[in-house]
Amino acid sequence: MATEQQTGDAATDGGPTTGSESLTVTDNRTGQSYELPITDGTVRGMDLRQIKVSEDDFGLMSYDPAFTNTAACRSAITDIDGERGILQHRGYPIEQLCERSSFLEVAYLLIFGELPTGPQLDRWVYDITHHTFVHEDIKQFFEGFRYDAHPMGMLLAGVGALSTFYPDAKQIGDPEERYMAAVRLIAKVPTLAAFSYRHNMGLPYVYPDNDLAFAENFLSMMFKKTEAKYNPDPRLARALDVLFILHADHEQNCSTSAVRGVGSSGVDPYSAVAAGVAALYGPLHGGANEAVLGMLRRIESVDNIPGFLERVKNREEKLMGFGHRVYKNYDPRARIIQQHMDEVFEATEYNSLVEIARELEKQALDDEYFTSRKLYPNVDFYSGIIYEALEIPPGMFTVIFAIPRTAGWVAQWMEMNDDLEKKISRPRQIYTGHRDRDYVPVVEREGPEKIVGPPARRPKRPRRGA
Ligand code: ACO
Repeated sequence: MATEQQTGDAATDGGPTTGSESLTVTDNRTGQSYELPITDGTVRGMDLRQIKVSEDDFGLMSYDPAFTNTAACRSAITDIDGERGILQHRGYPIEQLCERSSFLEVAYLLIFGELPTGPQLDRWVYDITHHTFVHEDIKQFFEGFRYDAHPMGMLLAGVGALSTFYPDAKQIGDPEERYMAAVRLIAKVPTLAAFSYRHNMGLPYVYPDNDLAFAENFLSMMFKKTEAKYNPDPRLARALDVLFILHADHEQNCSTSAVRGVGSSGVDPYSAVAAGVAALYGPLHGGANEAVLGMLRRIESVDNIPGFLERVKNREEKLMGFGHRVYKNYDPRARIIQQHMDEVFEATEYNSLVEIARELEKQALDDEYFTSRKLYPNVDFYSGIIYEALEIPPGMFTVIFAIPRTAGWVAQWMEMNDDLEKKISRPRQIYTGHRDRDYVPVVEREGPEKIVGPPARRPKRPRRGA
């Protein structure tokens, strides 16, 4: 059959294609060839649609569950080079930001694209510091949770509830409303996070202290007791600020994609960010650092490390805090956390888990099993140990992650809304079910006797005061 070549619509990528910047595909069902433009190392999914077996054919789609090889947007915020272990925000290496910047400055950089000038930074810090209080009704809303409610569930509900307090945030095209939403989210999420911890502990909520810096204020809202003023150890406040910088953004991960996907419907930013909190709640996203602590405790002593690694190699165990979908080299964030550990342990009680973690890392990196699979420590390998040193309980680890990630979510939400190609997120599917069946009245239906429903009843949790 004679090969007929069709060309992808060059207008869809904004310019004409040259022979070398294109992909030629032949549909073996029809023998037809098509030339698809390549831009930035990608072809457009919609360019596949012209590939049809007949006029009434829908056209070819790409199938990519979990989006493992699909770019869903163009973004200028965060760049990860997983092979080389590089992370940059707006072009600035994470190492320089952690050493020389502060979390609030990095939040500004992520959202507005440039490092702030002195007056811009002063205004930004002032605005965030002066929006940390939440409406008293939010406090009462939190009081309605069960005493043992998971803090992440409370945060999720609290962020969603904020949207009802700021209905003008629905005007997502209004620059002033957007700015206020960015400020309020970054300022109030730590307050909600600390309230969720105090609620679990049965302690009174602590109001924000405007004299304290961002991380200091969070520690005060978490741990203040009867003292007139809580003054955290500056080494611990700095370590927490660095952890906040490290977690501020990580391009199109699960929760960021959730924020963009939900935000693409035009919903207000509080509701979109609540979707991000929900995604982060899942154990495959936040939460591996808690598993690392459990693993180190089970190993118990450095003498047991070789035996543990043997079990990992026999696939009886997983080396938690090692490996990453994107990083196939040392996660740069893990290296930075390591550098701050000594500082933290100077200010806190020594934790013998550090010694086990360091020796475990050393032995794993000397072992061909791990190096050949490009398994290196990720950000979670050491972060749980630091949180534990700060006396933050494991249930709060993901909540602490959500505090800085709010800045990334807001930045990505704003970028998505300014994108001229923005459309409501709406993936396609490959339908695998029945078609064209006629409805049968219930009395005429036949089938297995099995009743679909939950298994045997589980015992109920005791209720407060029971
Ligand atoms: N321990 C032992 N072996 C591992 C580990 C590990 N932690 N991670 C991967 N491997 C092995 C796999 O068994 C596989 O071996 P094989 O090729 O012989 O079958 C190989 O390395 C490749 O692993 P994949 O599972 O294909 O890697 P993937 O990219 O799908 O998974 C993940 C990445 C989920 C992070 C994985 O490395 C893992 O489970 N790590 C432990 C959990 C963890 O630390 N998660 C936190 C990630 S950081 C974050 O989310 C903030």
